[in-house]
Amino acid sequence: MKGPNNQYPLNSVSKLFSVQLHFVQILTYILLLGFGLTIGIIISFYLKDCSFSLQFTQLSLSALPRTTPLPPPITKQEISNDSNDNNHSDRHIGLNWFLKPPHVKHDLDDEELLWRASMTAKIPEYPFDRVPKVAFMFLTRGPVFLAPLWEKFFKGHEGYYSVYVHSNPSYNASHPESPVFQGRRIPSKKVEWGNVNMIEAERRLLANALLDISNQRFVLLSESCIPLFNFSTVYSYLMNSTLNHVMAFDDPSSVGRGRYRIQMLPEITLRQWRKGSQWFEMNRELALEVVSDRKYFPVFQEYCTGSCYADEHYLPTFVSMKFWEGNSNRSLTWVDWSKGGPHPARIARSEINVKFLESLRSKKCKYNDNSTNACFLFARKFPPSTLSRLTNIAPEVMHF
Ligand SMILES: *[C@@H]1O[C@H](CO)[C@@H](O)[C@H](O)[C@H]1NC(C)=O
Ligand SMILES: *[C@@H]1O[C@H](CO)[C@@H](O)[C@H](O)[C@H]1NC(C)=O
Ligand SMILES: *[C@@H]1O[C@H](CO)[C@@H](O)[C@H](O)[C@H]1NC(C)=O
Ligand SMILES: *[C@@H]1O[C@H](CO)[C@@H](O)[C@H](O)[C@H]1NC(C)=O
Ligand SMILES: *[C@@H]1O[C@H](CO)[C@@H](O)[C@H](O)[C@H]1NC(C)=O
Ligand SMILES: *[C@@H]1O[C@H](CO)[C@@H](O)[C@H](O)[C@H]1NC(C)=O
Ligand SMILES: *[C@@H]1O[C@H](CO)[C@@H](O)[C@H](O)[C@H]1NC(C)=O
Repeated sequence: MKGPNNQYPLNSVSKLFSVQLHFVQILTYILLLGFGLTIGIIISFYLKDCSFSLQFTQLSLSALPRTTPLPPPITKQEISNDSNDNNHSDRHIGLNWFLKPPHVKHDLDDEELLWRASMTAKIPEYPFDRVPKVAFMFLTRGPVFLAPLWEKFFKGHEGYYSVYVHSNPSYNASHPESPVFQGRRIPSKKVEWGNVNMIEAERRLLANALLDISNQRFVLLSESCIPLFNFSTVYSYLMNSTLNHVMAFDDPSSVGRGRYRIQMLPEITLRQWRKGSQWFEMNRELALEVVSDRKYFPVFQEYCTGSCYADEHYLPTFVSMKFWEGNSNRSLTWVDWSKGGPHPARIARSEINVKFLESLRSKKCKYNDNSTNACFLFARKFPPSTLSRLTNIAPEVMHF
């Protein structure tokens, strides 16, 4: 504000003066107002007995502006029609309707679905008998071409599993689907390899599976995955596991830390950045956290594009940041990276024999603070040409 001669210019002095003048005026008004209010309060105090204040209140209420009319309330009739169970006369319905999983083919959009799926019971004990189930979630392009093998795997274990399929919306099932997969396609959207919409699909699968309160463990699989053990072994392994299985490690190279984007600060730092296979297995608590994440996932949606490959980084990073204590940091799905390149190797038909499958079934690992021979429960990538050989060997090696 000071001029070249270190003195205040004339016009700023007059401004200062006019500001002071305004100040004096405002102060006067405030004093007058305070004086008036005090007088008013004293008068109303004395007039209290003359029901002055009552009249005053009524006056001000009737002067309120008219609001828009409320929508009509939902009637009991509409609600009970919705439940399909409106005959309460002679049998106990209890929680039956509430516990029944909604139909796989709903018309919720993603926002509605994730919100609905994010709900959880605050009372941890169940007031009813409940068989915990494993949700097998298949993320596919088209058909699950190893379906006959999975049919053998699931046979006789109905009630202990649920199946969900997310496939390309443009896929039209030409031939009838096999029973286990029949009607299990969830409302799906387009998925591109390495794109963040792959994780949107994974969250969609998790959310659909969460709608069934009996699902306790959640496995992500692809159409080229096979089970390495029979159902009872897989079920006990997962139900008794104290940890989640989301592969996560720090890869200092250009295809690890090199994919980190500085714009992800401050939510995600380079130190927190992790890599891992997308084929996860997790419990209900973690699945709830994944579908309700509204802090880190949007950062990936915005900045982890192109050669960032969100599907290899989002879950490993998110889980390692917030839930690392419950994570084993390893995947339950075996893949062959030995041949290099951006994609794991496909297993050729000629490679499949008893010895090969036995070797996949007996890799050393840690399980619940103990060592185990069953490191992997699933394996990929098995093309359609391997189906007949696998189904022939399955009874001998995999016991199903
Ligand atoms: C509910 O069911 C009753 C009797 O079955 C029917 O009269 C009524 O129109 C239904 N209401 C709705 C909203 O569908
Ligand atoms: C309710 O169910 C009982 C037996 O299940 C049946 O006798 C009765 O007619 C039903 N009532 C209505 C209103 O549907
Ligand atoms: C799928 O099938 C329906 C009916 O059969 C047909 O209208 C639609 O064009 C098909 N879509 C594709 C992508 O083939
Ligand atoms: C399942 O496989 C295990 C070995 O992995 C075997 O001991 C068990 O008997 C099999 N169960 C059935 C029902 O075949
Ligand atoms: C978990 O392990 C215990 C002891 O090994 C076993 O008795 C139980 O059946 C297992 N639970 C399941 C669901 O397999
Ligand atoms: C998994 O990795 C985290 C670091 O991200 C580490 O703190 C934790 O101990 C690891 N858990 C196991 C079971 O190795
Ligand atoms: C580890 O395995 C051994 C032998 O199978 C068993 O006796 C022991 O109870 C296990 N320990 C834990 C912590 O599960």
